Amino acid sequence: MDHFNYRDGVLFAEDVPLTTIAAAVGTPVYVYSRATLIRHARVFRDALSAVLPRMHLAYAMKANPNLSVLKVLASEGYGADIVSGGELERALAAGMPAGDVVFSGVGKDAGELARGVEVGIGQFNLESEEEGEELARIAASMGGRAVCALRVNPDVDAKTHAKISTGKSENKFGVAYDRAAGIYLRLSALEGLEMRGLAVHIGSQITDLDPSRQAFIKMGALMRDIRGQGLTVSHMDLGGGLGVPYKAGEELPGPEDYAAMVAQVTDGWDATIMFEPGRVIAGNSGVMMTRVIRVKQGATNTPFVVIDAAMNDLARPALYDAWHDFVAVEKTGERMSANIVGPICESTDTFAMARDIDAVKAGDLAAFRTAGAYGATMANTYNSRPLVPEVMVDGEKWAIVANRIEPATILAAETVPDWLD
Ligand code: LLP
Repeated sequence: MDHFNYRDGVLFAEDVPLTTIAAAVGTPVYVYSRATLIRHARVFRDALSAVLPRMHLAYAMKANPNLSVLKVLASEGYGADIVSGGELERALAAGMPAGDVVFSGVGKDAGELARGVEVGIGQFNLESEEEGEELARIAASMGGRAVCALRVNPDVDAKTHAKISTGKSENKFGVAYDRAAGIYLRLSALEGLEMRGLAVHIGSQITDLDPSRQAFIKMGALMRDIRGQGLTVSHMDLGGGLGVPYKAGEELPGPEDYAAMVAQVTDGWDATIMFEPGRVIAGNSGVMMTRVIRVKQGATNTPFVVIDAAMNDLARPALYDAWHDFVAVEKTGERMSANIVGPICESTDTFAMARDIDAVKAGDLAAFRTAGAYGATMANTYNSRPLVPEVMVDGEKWAIVANRIEPATILAAETVPDWLD
């Protein structure tokens, strides 16, 4: 459920017609609904807290790191799952306590590790023995101890798009399952580390709970094995990955089904269970609004609807063949079949082929639904296009929460050496 609904044929974000935002800010533009963000944050939190005695939620801010989005989630008691020094500074800027931050990522460099120790990161999810050794040296040299979990690659197929699968043995993430207990043992002996748990994350947009169940069962066995060797495993981080419906009417396992599965698998674990949800919190909380530039007749009967948004603004269809529902902001009730494309000079810049959509014509506004996660954050300026702006709505209020960055600003950051003049 979200707060993007039609009133008299016009699409609203909460109590604001999208036409108002388009007139004031222009297009393309991302529009987020605060009430929807809060709703998803609560549904996920309440489903899990109802069945787990001890848990910790770290919003995977890679899904949508906008400062205002983070503020909303911080106020709902979420910490952050981060993967870079830049995300760390954002989490702190949003007022998230460092102790609620989990630092994931396969390539944290020495500077990022040191900054994490300095601010007192809640948990480093180590992705290799080598990383653990480096962090131990850094923490010890700073007179501290870094609290850590070991990320394990369970070699389970998440049955999602190959490019967003992370839990197969050939993926770069975590340490091999069979080597994990040995690595945990060796890292536990290091002065600068406090090994307290295990972490797993097998992929994103997971729509079948079974792979996660298999992975969590394997993690439970590993936890018992490590505890059997006399070591502490007090925290089990089960990652993120729960998928969201991208098509109207699509039925998928939701937070309650996920929570029931987690409760069943983790029964008797006696550990704090941690989660890193991203998409399930932010996905449905945003749309990307665009304007139709023109409708062009092609070689076939299916016209091209050329819109002012492109793959640089919303990369998911180009990267993962992802589906985003496309709707007219002002519905006429008429339908058409169309290829939806952006202005960028490559054929990858295609949002949909031969899609049955609301009829649109030049000048009309339209929106891609479920664009709140992995949308604006993956935008770039390819073809010297502006960086897409972001707006947040709260009831009848709305505000720009990230400006459009114009090509002139980007041009101004470039310099020409005198030897080229
Ligand atoms: N934890 C870790 C360690 C992760 O790598 C990720 C996502 C998450 C949590 C959050 O997963 P979520 O709950 O959002 O599924 N750009 C792609 C998705 C990449 C996901 C990367 N890692 C897309 O647009 O589909």
